[in-house]
Amino acid sequence: MICGERIRLRAIEREDLSLFVRLLNDPEVSAGLLHYLPFSLADEEQWFLEMQKRPMDEHPLVIEVRQGDDWLPVGDCGFFKIDWRCRVGEVGILIGEKHLWNQGYGTEAMLLLLRHGFNTLNLNRIALDVYENNPRAIRSYEKAGFVNEGRKRQAMYKDGKYIDVLQMSVLREEWKEV
Ligand SMILES: CC(C)(COP(=O)(O)OP(=O)(O)OC[C@H]1O[C@@H](n2cnc3c(N)ncnc32)[C@H](O)[C@@H]1OP(=O)(O)O)[C@@H](O)C(=O)NCCC(=O)NCCS
Repeated sequence: MICGERIRLRAIEREDLSLFVRLLNDPEVSAGLLHYLPFSLADEEQWFLEMQKRPMDEHPLVIEVRQGDDWLPVGDCGFFKIDWRCRVGEVGILIGEKHLWNQGYGTEAMLLLLRHGFNTLNLNRIALDVYENNPRAIRSYEKAGFVNEGRKRQAMYKDGKYIDVLQMSVLREEWKEV
């Protein structure tokens, strides 16, 4: 378990899959993600089996938000495409409960992920891609310390439009542990 103030990150369980089917089938939630097709619990179970074959360091972590004495699962985040020689990793994040957006949870989860990436995995560079039309995500990443380092022009097609994809990253030397 990776613990913060209002958030904790834990391993994903089979019992979580129905939650993710609900969250990811919401078009407002998936607008910022690679997903573009409706998918079923059977699809998600297949994804879960494939995910378990990936290295442990790249398994997604469920984001849980403290609600009184309980912890509510609201999304997930994690590393992928880790290059151990260059000490580079990419991150992704999803908070699918929309009533919890804009309350700082995404930023707090990303800060926990950065601490895990730099202090536990010993990475040197942590990067992500974000669509230009996702200002909430861009603002949240800036608050966590990511800087914009480039733009892939018209690299994504969604909702009848080509979208630029911004590349952002944090280097260990500029990361401020909080
Ligand atoms: C992206 C995501 C993780 C952010 O989490 P969050 O908890 O909503 O983010 P935070 O509350 O920490 O920060 C959001 C910031 O964006 C700001 N914001 C929201 N809408 C905005 C808009 N339209 N324009 C500019 N800023 C905006 C908020 O005011 C807040 O900034 P502030 O604290 O300076 O006021 C979450 O919204 C999410 O999972 N969305 C769906 C999936 C997704 O898009 N994932 C990212 C893929 S790259």
